[in-house]
Amino acid sequence: MFKSLLVGGLLPTVFAAPAPQMNYAENSGPVAGVNAPIPTVTAASGSLYGPESLLGEVAQPSPVSGDDSIAVSNYPLVNGQEADQDLGLYLDFNSVEKPQPIRGEAGQTDPGPRTYAYEKLNPDLFAPPGTDNGDTPQLQWPLGLSHNRLGSGKQAGWARQQNTDQLPVATAFAGVDMTLAPHAYRELHWHSANEWALVLKGSVRLAAMNENGESFIDDIGTGDVWFFPAGVPHSIQALDEGSEFLLIFDDGAFSEDGTSLISELFERNPKEVLSKNLQTPVSAFDNLPADQLYIFNGTPAPANVSAQNQTGPAGILPYAGSYTYHWSQQQPYTTPGGSVKILDSTTFPLATMFAVALVTVQPGAMRELHWHLNSDEWNYFLQGSARMTVFAAPSSSRTFDYTAGDIGYIPATDAHYIENTGTEDVVFLEVLKQPKFTDISVAQWLALTPKQVVQDTLHLPDETLAGLPKEKTYLKTGNRNMTALAVNPKGSGAYASD
Ligand SMILES: *[C@@H]1O[C@H](CO)[C@@H](O)[C@H](O)[C@H]1NC(C)=O
Ligand SMILES: *[C@@H]1O[C@H](CO)[C@@H](O)[C@H](O)[C@H]1NC(C)=O
Ligand SMILES: *[C@@H]1O[C@H](CO)[C@@H](O)[C@H](O)[C@H]1NC(C)=O
Repeated sequence: MFKSLLVGGLLPTVFAAPAPQMNYAENSGPVAGVNAPIPTVTAASGSLYGPESLLGEVAQPSPVSGDDSIAVSNYPLVNGQEADQDLGLYLDFNSVEKPQPIRGEAGQTDPGPRTYAYEKLNPDLFAPPGTDNGDTPQLQWPLGLSHNRLGSGKQAGWARQQNTDQLPVATAFAGVDMTLAPHAYRELHWHSANEWALVLKGSVRLAAMNENGESFIDDIGTGDVWFFPAGVPHSIQALDEGSEFLLIFDDGAFSEDGTSLISELFERNPKEVLSKNLQTPVSAFDNLPADQLYIFNGTPAPANVSAQNQTGPAGILPYAGSYTYHWSQQQPYTTPGGSVKILDSTTFPLATMFAVALVTVQPGAMRELHWHLNSDEWNYFLQGSARMTVFAAPSSSRTFDYTAGDIGYIPATDAHYIENTGTEDVVFLEVLKQPKFTDISVAQWLALTPKQVVQDTLHLPDETLAGLPKEKTYLKTGNRNMTALAVNPKGSGAYASD
């Protein structure tokens, strides 16, 4: 095609023509929209403004009937969509081309304009359970909607972030997803917030020094963690496979673009001062980078970390104050429905205010209904698809859907669960700003409250009360078929594990 255009000498004409006006029908990939509600103009026509005679009261009447109805005909509903609103079953909109915002008796078809992909990813926002109520702030941010900052140099890496610009309610934490190519660096830097990080893929070499002149160097891999306190200068270099990692800062307003970089420090001080400071001729600074490096390619690090070990009279950082924790080697606590790994200051003492759980939830199962005593919670979804309802006193709740790469947020003391809505394991992080990981389990609370009190309040049957566990289970098992209950609402469909 391209070649024949060239041969025919048509290419210049094609390139010179204005870009064709895109209409709604063309803008229809696998997530097609719908017919444009107002015809698009494709030809140049008349003036930009219409006449005053179109003002109401003087204009000719517009036709008010005979137009297409907003009611979409012949729409298929998905499994569970006709079930009672308050049952609130998860609706898998991927099974239909054009999902409709209908739940039980409520809602109406949506003739558009819209883009189906958003609604397929967020069925609980599009057709909320009947139990959702009131105003709840936005508690979900897909990193796929974050601006990506590409590193300098050839394919050196990238970073994208979430902070209060994206999620205004998330004041306690900000997050960054960063990738470094093999041997690439995150430039030597320091920052104003504490940084807790999880390696998502690959491995990195970290180097740092503290205020006592104690030095640190370590290699960590997938599933391992580092923590750098505010102000502690450090560098990160990816090893042979490159690395992707998640950075969590304990300040919701923190911006990854606002860190203090060594290149900027040198660029922003008089060379006379630099010369005096490093006791070296001014000419030593002839080849400083012209601009900040941030993420850039490097030479391969020697395989043996000891070859890069720099120690002074103060020696190495004491182990009790280590900046890394090789979390990948910790065995998870397994329980029916999945597994949990906790890392807080009990075993990683330097990170005094990061209490983190890495939770795996099997299909059909859920992280049980709970809340946290006095910390907001920041979530990151590493795998799978899940939903969460956040209850905020006195009477609001909203259900959000999450898939891999999404961030979730829960204000302190707001009750929530995280339910696996997909067919693979959900893996996610719960991050709290407190020394020890703690939560209040709703089921355990009811089990440890006098039965009469619970019964007088909630009118639960005796068998239900008798079955409540007095120990916290973290997870609850459930049916992998999330809509089985629609057929038999009185049965044990929701929690039967198959
Ligand atoms: C790394 O280098 C140190 C110091 O030279 C040496 O003691 C150690 O055996 C080396 N480790 C490996 C795995 O080669
Ligand atoms: C670095 O050197 C110090 C002092 O010799 C030593 O205690 C420490 O184990 C070394 N670390 C590594 C990673 O080689
Ligand atoms: C789930 O259960 C419903 C109701 O019994 C059934 O119609 C549906 O096919 C099941 N889905 C799967 C994936 O088995």
